[in-house]
Amino acid sequence: MKLILLGPPGAGKGTQAKLLVQKFAIPQISTGDILRAAVKDGTPMGVKAKSFMDAGGLVPDEVVVGIVKERLQKDDCSNGFILDGFPRTLPQADALQDTLKSLDKNLDAVISLEVDIEALVERLTGRRSCPACGAGFHVKYEPPKQDGICDKCGAALIQRDDDREETIRNRMQVYQDQTLPLVTYYQQAGLLSKVDGMLPIGEVTVLIDALLKGLR
Ligand code: AP5
Ligand code: MG
Repeated sequence: MKLILLGPPGAGKGTQAKLLVQKFAIPQISTGDILRAAVKDGTPMGVKAKSFMDAGGLVPDEVVVGIVKERLQKDDCSNGFILDGFPRTLPQADALQDTLKSLDKNLDAVISLEVDIEALVERLTGRRSCPACGAGFHVKYEPPKQDGICDKCGAALIQRDDDREETIRNRMQVYQDQTLPLVTYYQQAGLLSKVDGMLPIGEVTVLIDALLKGLR
């Protein structure tokens, strides 16, 4: 199962990827998560990425392509993987094709989560994440049992630095300008399936399940 989850900020890529990880025992490769960990650890890559991320812009292609190339070669990707937030530009998509070719692998599907951009601001401003175990929540749509506390490990939940309204607007614009062309790119490659990402989380999962069953 070699998948890409495509969609704008807040579409539900991370939420659905985590559910697929449990179901298929394949890794989620989120370039956003990898970059945030690098920023937190203060690595040279993190220092370089931070200003782009804080502004809601994209980290340079060569940085993220390098991350994904290295990650796809790890043993845990041998049965498949879920790419979440990569590729995000046409050069990244081309680089992914080259990398997969060199590893003798093919993509099985690209799932585009179709959402109404206006709903996304509420999703992102209400998002809470666990800094300890990575679990995701939403104050309204996926609330933790105890306010501000992770259900899974008990750590205090945090809000992402780039989930401020003005940064969200920039991220949406960047998505429209640089990432949206990938929908056509993968449509032309015969790999794209659209899923209604406006439905409740569980219903989106059911649609993705049905789609993946059709592939197998
Ligand atoms: P990244 O971390 O990838 O952020 P993003 O693409 O902006 O997407 P998000 O993580 O915000 O949204 P999501 O679709 O995962 O939504 P989620 O499931 O959390 O990237 C961050 C930054 O890193 C970028 O801006 C860039 O600077 C850099 N970067 C990363 N990758 C890069 C690349 N390839 N190239 C260059 N730069 C890169 O859901 C959101 C909320 O909504 C949650 O609270 C959730 O509970 C809730 N929710 C989810 N689904 C539903 C639903 N169906 N109904 C109601 N609520 C829902
Ligand atoms: Mg995400």
